[in-house]
Amino acid sequence: MSKLKVAVLISGRGSNMGSLARACMDPDFPAEIVLVLSNRPNVLGLELAREHDLPIRVVDHTAYPDREAHEEAICAAMTEAGAELVCMAGYMRIVGQTLLGKWRGKVVNIHPSLLPSFRGVDTHERAIDAGVRVHGCTVHYVSPELDAGPIIAQAVVPLHPNDDAETLSTRVLDMEHKLYPHAVRLIAEKMVRWSGDEAVEDRKVTIDDVLMLPEIKTAEDQA
Ligand code: GAR
Repeated sequence: MSKLKVAVLISGRGSNMGSLARACMDPDFPAEIVLVLSNRPNVLGLELAREHDLPIRVVDHTAYPDREAHEEAICAAMTEAGAELVCMAGYMRIVGQTLLGKWRGKVVNIHPSLLPSFRGVDTHERAIDAGVRVHGCTVHYVSPELDAGPIIAQAVVPLHPNDDAETLSTRVLDMEHKLYPHAVRLIAEKMVRWSGDEAVEDRKVTIDDVLMLPEIKTAEDQA
């Protein structure tokens, strides 16, 4: 069976790209990375992509007169690489009409909160300030409105009373690394898809497929 060809867009550390790359090393994983594209040169994620022998492109946004021209260049690189799905993985640019016009329904993003709570930045600080008991991450289709597209899958982590943004972000990131490959598998195996009216259609999908819960440890387990 042919594998779904994925372009991964990054802007920095690239640990989610790394988790997708590791998943793709499994011969049974139904997707492969055909391009890692960064809008910033010299970021750690590019080093990681090189270690995985992945094709790399830097399309530096500062070299283009406007968002439209930058996105045209990204679209050209993704088309040239034969990409069928675009995974934003810590890609810290707002996606505009030029990219979405061509790729809408084929662009997904991972966000460090249980959307629709805590769209935007500083999600961990805001979750702690809000006093929520659970937090997590979401993979969703990208729509013109920031962090608002149809949800594909979510993973939950507990928020402990002594958490700070750093401990919480580590716990969430660990879950992100499990959730993103899982969500890409759901898409590649056509268990979840984007429909024209923006709803995520599912086929044979159970709640366990789209929601990852942490293993709950009892006091006895921890003793
Ligand atoms: C991840 O936590 C990802 O969810 C977040 O940036 C981090 C990137 O880490 N993305 C966003 O906040 C997008 N709104 P990584 O570069 O190590 O994958």
